Amino acid sequence: MKKHSAAKRAASRPGYDELKNKIQQREALIGIIGLGYVGLPLALLFSEQKFSVTGFDIDQRKVDTLARGESYIFRITAEEIRKAKKQGFSATSEYARIAEMDAIIICVPTPLNQYHEPDLSFITDTTHAIAPHLQAGQLVVLESTTYPGTTEEVMLPILEKENKNGLKAARGASGAPKAEKQFFAAFSPEREDPGNTTVARRDIPKVVGGLNPQASELAGALYGSIFHRTVPVSSPAAAEMTKLLENIYRCVNIALVNELKMLCLRMNLDIWEVIAAASTKPFGFHPFYPGPGLGGHCIPVDPFYLSWKAKEYDFRTRFIELAGEINTAMPYHVLASIGGALNQHKKSVNGARVLILGVAYKKDIDDLRESPALTIIELLQHEGAQVSYHDPYFPMIGKGRKYDLQMKRTELERLGQYDCIVIVTDHSDYNFKKIVGEAKLVVDTRNATKGIDSPKVVRC
Ligand SMILES: NC(=O)c1ccc[n+]([C@@H]2O[C@H](COP(=O)([O-])OP(=O)(O)OC[C@H]3O[C@@H](n4cnc5c(N)ncnc54)[C@H](O)[C@@H]3O)[C@@H](O)[C@H]2O)c1
Repeated sequence: MKKHSAAKRAASRPGYDELKNKIQQREALIGIIGLGYVGLPLALLFSEQKFSVTGFDIDQRKVDTLARGESYIFRITAEEIRKAKKQGFSATSEYARIAEMDAIIICVPTPLNQYHEPDLSFITDTTHAIAPHLQAGQLVVLESTTYPGTTEEVMLPILEKENKNGLKAARGASGAPKAEKQFFAAFSPEREDPGNTTVARRDIPKVVGGLNPQASELAGALYGSIFHRTVPVSSPAAAEMTKLLENIYRCVNIALVNELKMLCLRMNLDIWEVIAAASTKPFGFHPFYPGPGLGGHCIPVDPFYLSWKAKEYDFRTRFIELAGEINTAMPYHVLASIGGALNQHKKSVNGARVLILGVAYKKDIDDLRESPALTIIELLQHEGAQVSYHDPYFPMIGKGRKYDLQMKRTELERLGQYDCIVIVTDHSDYNFKKIVGEAKLVVDTRNATKGIDSPKVVRC
């Protein structure tokens, strides 16, 4: 483990060449701000490649958990944390230590506010906090998903105005201002697909957009040491837009299959069979799958960052808005399907005992953010249903950004006691054949009961 004091570091301010050399020699000190689903795995990846990493987080519980060598993210083991600690990884809430770092990577949340507008407060808070400690020659990279222009219009003005050394970001090909008065800035979006075990993180190409060619090269060298491929683009804004295009592409295509699913249900066609058949086309078709509604920190949120920004240009992003409308309506479609299914059994939603299977927004992950299950539970409760839930990843549902459900997980037993079981998240742990066997009625939003031929199953 390499020890560098702030004073020692201040004495040897690296310019472009020194920083590049430090990165190549694995001697660059990496500071990662925001140790959540994105920042912590990134810290571990740098650690695996022998970099000394310091994580910064305002959540003291996370800092303490890591200090004990434990993990708070399901898919990251305590063993991985301990291994990283041996490599020099530590976590802190002390921003003063930013001065010691060579590269600073920001991975803080970018949610929407109650008016469905970008909430950049986490980015601005972080930037205000690091600015006083900014040093010449440092590389600052923003990874949080956001609208094009955030790095240059929001982050840089704060860093330039509030640093104590009169530093400016290196702009233009010449690298001006002078080495002792400059820092480097870039944007590089996170592209992780939680729960995806088919693509190793290192194999996901990393898009990098620097403010000037030197910043691009430095950020490219930094990420090139942990990812197999980096993809340079011409500016931070191009990199910001790349990430949004990827997520909007998903959002719009999911809306398309959600809409077609509802038509297929009316036409008595199986959308899953149709998608599987269309997927055999060797070109021009990429499968997307319908579901109970969008979830997660990205797809339901990110597209609206762009629609908000587009208004500044007197432009309406109609695909995003339409997709948002269709996807947001899906939990209501699930509610209507539950009502219809209960009706077939001469029962109403009001008073029905309903078990929700799976509350994570996606199969096999421990993330509840924006999960459609929460909306479905709230809608059912509003209609008078007695709702229970089961999810292997969540012993309880507490307070979230939108909901305060305060529910405890029920055991997966005596399934015959429920009037209806709703499959919202098709975790691999579930034995759907057994569940259908024991249940009175199953509403399946995920095609989890594919191949199970039972009159008890209603596909929705
Ligand atoms: N989760 C994903 O799969 C994913 C994928 C791609 C992109 N992203 C984007 O990456 C960014 C981070 O997402 P995440 O899922 O890791 O969020 P997260 O909520 O899991 O983690 C964010 C962390 O930042 C910390 N934090 C907040 N403000 C801070 C501050 N001022 N200083 C230091 N720490 C602070 C929080 O305590 C938290 O630990 C978001 O912009 C998100 O859209 C996420």
